[in-house]
Amino acid sequence: MTLFGTQGINAAGHLTIGGCDTVELAERFGTPLYVVDEWLVRDNCRRYLGAFRAVLPEVEIAYAGKALLTTAIARLMDQEGMALDTASAGELYTALQAGFPPERIKLHGNFKKPDLLRMALETGVGRIVVDSLEELHDLSQIAAEMGRTADILIRVAPGIKAHTHHAIQTGQEDTKFGLGLRCGSAREGTRLALELPNLTLHGFHAHIGSQILDTDAFKHATAAMVDFLADMRDEFGFAARQLDLGGGLGIRYQEDDIPPTIEELAQAVGTALKDACAARDFPVPELILEPGRSIVGEAGTTLYTVGVVKHIPGVRTYVSVDGGLSDNPRPVMYDAVYRALLANRANEAPTHELVRISGAHCETDTLIPEIALPEPAPGDILAVLGTGAYNHAMASNYNRFSRPAMVLVADGQADLIYARESLADLVRQDLMPERLA
Ligand code: LLP
Repeated sequence: MTLFGTQGINAAGHLTIGGCDTVELAERFGTPLYVVDEWLVRDNCRRYLGAFRAVLPEVEIAYAGKALLTTAIARLMDQEGMALDTASAGELYTALQAGFPPERIKLHGNFKKPDLLRMALETGVGRIVVDSLEELHDLSQIAAEMGRTADILIRVAPGIKAHTHHAIQTGQEDTKFGLGLRCGSAREGTRLALELPNLTLHGFHAHIGSQILDTDAFKHATAAMVDFLADMRDEFGFAARQLDLGGGLGIRYQEDDIPPTIEELAQAVGTALKDACAARDFPVPELILEPGRSIVGEAGTTLYTVGVVKHIPGVRTYVSVDGGLSDNPRPVMYDAVYRALLANRANEAPTHELVRISGAHCETDTLIPEIALPEPAPGDILAVLGTGAYNHAMASNYNRFSRPAMVLVADGQADLIYARESLADLVRQDLMPERLA
């Protein structure tokens, strides 16, 4: 079984992460528990910055906070010299609370309400990525009212289909995101952005999808976008200085998911960008990327306690754990498949039986449809790997479950970065009208 980052197995046969025994973590902090491997997060940031700066003159790597964002994670990204991509008032607020420099923050969203646009202008975010013609008008007007100028990129839908789950494909023409390249609205947006007052257009953005496992779609998107940049120069005399190619690099959920390495992605995109620019005699723009999953995904592990083991003779064995849909909705939403092991018996060989891991919700919340484990028993600690991205970020309080705690581990030290929600937290927003008293 391929382990991630600093994961290992100690003399007691327990899974360790960041030098911490995960069985002890489960005892100390309770389960379910998200464990984040600090070294791996930092190493991924450094590899992105190093690999892309080795092939291109100007590069910005903006961590996509939607994958996992708390104030501690934002701080870590700042320390690593990353920029930050936010996609809501909540993500922006979290980043600012962490003291993240606003000029290195970008704001995304296909429908940003006027209040959010005002918040972005007031706090001085570096770039607002405009998603529609309406937003260009709104932003220009709001910026004028505030006596500010908005620094923008325009999001383009480049018409590239990435090979990934249909729900996380976003770059194709038939999408709610961005201004279509083929239908001419991206061109119209460029004209408007250059014409409307209180807007400074710096360049263009495209994001083609997520959990992408080859470099082809990235290369095609790069070429299509450079063509568009050159067309806009030829038509309007505007030579974009920034090209943002979004995020999307996949991770190893299953043993046979083999994503390109960060270095391979850098080579592929760097070459595609330089070649496409040379072909159109266009000066190589600053490249911006917005990786989320590939920075934090493999760095996250969720620890659960095994509760009920139900054998149905001749049918299957259900192994229920103390979390599920509320802390990881991805199996139900996207048929995502995770790898897992028993953290307290990490050296034991699995039996030949494939068991099903189920959550504890009033719902058929299968977490892992079929997995070989060393005969799980109540009290075992199940470690599900690769849960750093879009787990805590997409967690809910369904069935009034409280969101799990999250610890950051490194060098044998574990620090809470998200406190487990309490039962009191669950009723904190509830209000009792007078007439029900
Ligand atoms: N930039 C933009 C504009 C995005 O929309 C996204 C992801 C990213 C960057 C980061 O993409 P990444 O590097 O993480 O693939 N909830 C889904 C994933 C949705 C991704 C949405 N946008 C999941 O759990 O698979």
